[in-house]
Amino acid sequence: MTKLYKAVVAGTGSFVPNKKLTNFDLEQMVETNDEWIVTRTGISERRITEAGETTSDLAFEAAKRAIADANLQAEDIDLIIVGTVTPDYPFPAVACQLQERLGCKEVGSFDVNATCVGFITALQIAEMYIKAGKHQHVLVVGADTLSKLTNYTDRSTCILFSDGAGAFVLSRTEENAEHKGVIYSSIHSNGEHVEALYVPHGGSKHPYSESYEKGIAMDGRKIFKLAVQAMSKTVKETLAETGYKQDDIDSIIPHQANQRIIEAVANQLDYPLEKVISNIKYFGNNSSATIPLAFDLAVKEGKIKRGDLIMHTAFGGGLVWGSLLMQY
Ligand code: UT7
Repeated sequence: MTKLYKAVVAGTGSFVPNKKLTNFDLEQMVETNDEWIVTRTGISERRITEAGETTSDLAFEAAKRAIADANLQAEDIDLIIVGTVTPDYPFPAVACQLQERLGCKEVGSFDVNATCVGFITALQIAEMYIKAGKHQHVLVVGADTLSKLTNYTDRSTCILFSDGAGAFVLSRTEENAEHKGVIYSSIHSNGEHVEALYVPHGGSKHPYSESYEKGIAMDGRKIFKLAVQAMSKTVKETLAETGYKQDDIDSIIPHQANQRIIEAVANQLDYPLEKVISNIKYFGNNSSATIPLAFDLAVKEGKIKRGDLIMHTAFGGGLVWGSLLMQY
């Protein structure tokens, strides 16, 4: 019989830009106010890149930290996957830039575009490679600079989005090892609502031109509702598939899109909010980065410990959604 392996998190790292964009800064830019933003989103401030600071810059710093945390060297990494929708260039991939910048061997590297589910999708792919015995140490990064796509005259979107990066090194252990590592993951999509959350310009349909209209188009109310439904459903499905009970789960790390969405998901699942990791207040929504960033900071703050069962769940433009259960 073919031998299967398990994938465990060997190390984590994260990085955000220095520049803070507070609600009070936004008050100077659009007609909004701190109270509205905090009440409707839970966000007080977010980190955004300076001009010239790129997604690969953030990804590089997060990746370096994850490799060091795993007690490995760059040359030990044998595959690089980056979840991002904001690569430095339309091509090549951020993952390819990381190969060179980190000093990795000439290993395979590619980016995954699954919007805010990019990191869960990349982790799932990494786990499959590891499970099959193809790779030993996979660097998985979620990195985005949504500020580069954001229209800072549109108050309905500019209050939400931000920049950041998080990274895991996923490593191989024997199937019979005590540590469970990644237990189960599932990803889903439905293209029916493409225009509920998308970037209208800059792609092949409306290529870059002088009349290029910068911005993320979003039907906020629709996305809110669908996000709550999809994340709750996928968590329930994961529990049903694996036989775990809600009480077994030490923490849920949801995509950080809106504190009200996070609370509604906890409510739908009847899961205690104090066990749901949230740092949206300080970081906003940085797409693929929210989950690995929240995970890494929670580890550093002692909120997540080795051996804990962690449920990740995310939702994003596409529409896409998914979840991943693992033992840390
Ligand atoms: O990764 C997934 C990414 N996206 C999301 O998860 C977004 C999901 N949706 C949301 O988070 C929320 O829908 C928003 C935060 C975007 C908006 O909150 P809401 O409670 O759904 O507000 P709304 O769109 O229903 O707007 C309510 C009012 C409107 O005014 P009227 O029509 O009632 O007079 C808006 O024009 O609030 C107004 N408004 C604002 N007021 C002050 C919209 N944006 C702002 C603002 N400041 N920034």
